[in-house]
Amino acid sequence: MKFFIDTANLNQIKDAQELGVLDGVTTNPSLMAKEGITGRKNILKHYIDICKAVDGDVSAEVISVDFDGIIKEGEELAALHPQIVVKVPMIKEGVRALKYFSDKNIRTNCTLIFSAGQALLAAKAGATYVSPFIGRLDDISTDGLGLIVEIREIYDNYAFETEILAASIRHTMHVIQCAKVGADVMTGPLSSIVGLLKHPLTDIGLKKFLEDYKKGN
Ligand code: G3P
Repeated sequence: MKFFIDTANLNQIKDAQELGVLDGVTTNPSLMAKEGITGRKNILKHYIDICKAVDGDVSAEVISVDFDGIIKEGEELAALHPQIVVKVPMIKEGVRALKYFSDKNIRTNCTLIFSAGQALLAAKAGATYVSPFIGRLDDISTDGLGLIVEIREIYDNYAFETEILAASIRHTMHVIQCAKVGADVMTGPLSSIVGLLKHPLTDIGLKKFLEDYKKGN
């Protein structure tokens, strides 16, 4: 399972990278705005800074919603750095753009996926990744994890190569549950990655080992 961090915060990206388990980064316009990154020029520069901070894929989202605009923006983003994956919304023009980018060997992440039908369509159009938002489904009392299970079954039935990128991950249990049902990738906040290492019995056990070592030395 690949671990992506879902942030535009360079310090958090560097922290996750230093841990040695980071496979990539996902961003979106809201995450960029949260870091105060505004204006096309600054946003493009920030994507390059993120690419320099990690080894893996970096999803950069288009803000156009018409076909020509998505293509123009996506080609500009893809040309920025080899690690860039163009993030395209699940809308009609987006599906057309996924097919276009796929034919041009430009890698894509189809975002805002909330149903198995949308995921099937994105795979048919040749998306590299699909991003089902499991946290936002849970927020409205709908089974986010169940959607991952459905997409996994559909993709396995037909050996689609599109990778399931479980997004809108909020906590460690989401990560574990997604791993159990076979999501290819998860993207979440730094806390959802670092939180995996925590267990009180580990802390108690280590404390005792160190105390016992001191007694004998
Ligand atoms: O990157 C998209 C997705 O991960 C958003 O997460 O927490 O805003 O629902 P959230």
